[in-house]
Amino acid sequence: MKKQQFISGYTVYEDEKELASHASADARLLLQAHEAAKNSYAPYSKFHVGAAVRLANGAIVKGNNIENAAYPSGLCAERVAMFAAQAQYPGVPIEALAITACSEITEVTEPVAPCGACRQVMVETEQRSGIPMRIICQGHIGPVFVFDGVETLMPFIFLTKFL
Ligand code: THU
Repeated sequence: MKKQQFISGYTVYEDEKELASHASADARLLLQAHEAAKNSYAPYSKFHVGAAVRLANGAIVKGNNIENAAYPSGLCAERVAMFAAQAQYPGVPIEALAITACSEITEVTEPVAPCGACRQVMVETEQRSGIPMRIICQGHIGPVFVFDGVETLMPFIFLTKFL
């Protein structure tokens, strides 16, 4: 018997200004995610999530969460953005995905942690593209977390190789 550990790391920036001084393209993408959150349709949770992906061809595609009275029929901002990117630019790799959120109920001052279903989609999107996807997360305000590749967010992944 032996115990094993996952070791993972990510970069913490104090705010979007500090991110901009290190990675201006990522800071611009984060701004697009904040813009995307304005298009969110979230009458039930009042939690507005914005996402923006930057593709290898330089295109930026935005997504936002869209809820439904039949709750499971809604979709998260991240998957809206990734699926829209695949629909509009099939086969073009996603270099980076930025995620932000703002709530009508509380001030979101911590980075948003993407849900498990979105992480699973990120994994397969990244695997298909063959390049690591950088994930940039912020709340409405506050620190920015940057993850270099999906595996740092989601270890021990269910992969297509298991099928
Ligand atoms: N949501 C996202 O859009 N992304 C996430 O990663 C977590 C949750 C949305 C789904 C729902 O519309 C609202 O946030 C509250 O869960």
